Amino acid sequence: MEKIKEALSDDLLGKTVGIRGWVYRIRSSGKITFIVMRDSTGIIQCIASSENLNDEQMKEISSLTIESSIELSGKLRKEPRAVTGYEISLQSYKIYERNENFPIAKDLGEEFLLDNRHLWLRSREFTAVLKIRSTVFKAFADYFYKEDYYQVQAPMFVSTATEGGSSLFNVDYFGEKVNLTQSSQFYLETLIYSLEKVFTIAPSFRAEKSRTRRHLTEYWHAEGEAAWYSNEDMMADEEKMIKYIIDEVLKNNLEDLEIIKRDINKIKNIKIPFERIKYKDLIEKSKEFGMNLKYGDDLGADEEYGIMVHFDNPIFVTDYPESLKTFYHRPDPDNPGEILCHDLLAPEGYGEVLGGGERIYDLQQLLDRIKENNLNPEDYYWYVDLRKYGSIPHSGFGLGLDRLVMWICGLSNVRETIPYPRTIRRVKP
Ligand code: 4AD
Repeated sequence: MEKIKEALSDDLLGKTVGIRGWVYRIRSSGKITFIVMRDSTGIIQCIASSENLNDEQMKEISSLTIESSIELSGKLRKEPRAVTGYEISLQSYKIYERNENFPIAKDLGEEFLLDNRHLWLRSREFTAVLKIRSTVFKAFADYFYKEDYYQVQAPMFVSTATEGGSSLFNVDYFGEKVNLTQSSQFYLETLIYSLEKVFTIAPSFRAEKSRTRRHLTEYWHAEGEAAWYSNEDMMADEEKMIKYIIDEVLKNNLEDLEIIKRDINKIKNIKIPFERIKYKDLIEKSKEFGMNLKYGDDLGADEEYGIMVHFDNPIFVTDYPESLKTFYHRPDPDNPGEILCHDLLAPEGYGEVLGGGERIYDLQQLLDRIKENNLNPEDYYWYVDLRKYGSIPHSGFGLGLDRLVMWICGLSNVRETIPYPRTIRRVKP
């Protein structure tokens, strides 16, 4: 048995090849049936004719339907008119399942397609996106292994909020009210006192009622935390990581990018270092784009879109006002009211894909910030303990992997990046 990708090669011309997979397209014209077969590696045209098959077999083959599963073999030849340039002339076959009316067809409504996501995800475009996504996840981990980070795991059932209480999902945990994690950050922080540099890839859960094209209620969060790192040290690792991921996608997924019609130059031309722009300067700059933002305004999906359509390289936005970020961010000792943090905004209008910065490591400062935010320090006793026993300067970040895939693939909605998107209105299939 060959994979289709192996069969698409001059090396096997004139030889008998065997493939197995699913009927992607089928068309009969008189005494000939053309079947385009697909497997995980690609598509290839097969031709069935009475030269090699008897009448009964021809009838059986011509009655196959889209997504029927079949194994077949035959001689390979070049055929410039075929979809991928080669053709197998069918000699023998075995049908595993012949289905009736595969429900996915052209021009079906969005809701129908989402209800049938388990079938829709076989599409060629979605398969290409999932291959790119697979590269992105691997490259993220590979980059940090290379940089001597350890991969760690944090719990999903938690009792504290990281990013504010309003977006917590509550779970009944044997009668106790707990939450699904919004971020593994605090647990990662506990691990830097032994491992120094750590990362994790895990789901995060946000009960956000946002219906934007970039919000999921369950998304894949790649987070890192590093002992002794400053805000600038963290950004330096992050930009190299982003560049590495893009280069790996360009190396491994050119065909997939072509299938989804991504303009490859848009990602090929990404250069590091990324420009660093202070929040207050970005607010000024946004006036050039006709926007009416003032200092202290939060940048949501619309504002970031309005700014980032004017950029073709990512930018780091730094030094946000304290009021816009959560309590753990370290205030800038030289610029009161500002914090030592950054968001990474992707170009072409995509906006925020990553947020990070320095963490408060002074005990009293952390306790003050917890109180200012009307939180109970006792709920955070273990997080506070870290500032009592061997506290050190450190930084970290969280990257939305689904959003990164969305940008790399040039997609218009984050739902298109993940097999089973969870949004405010959907938890099935
Ligand atoms: O900016 P956020 O909320 O930061 C944190 O959770 C930090 N504790 C991370 C850390 O420093 N370890 O989330 C980080 C990233 C965002 O930049 C965004 O890309 C992604 O997570 N994200 C979402 N992605 C999809 N759907 C959502 N609802 C998301 N919310 C955040």
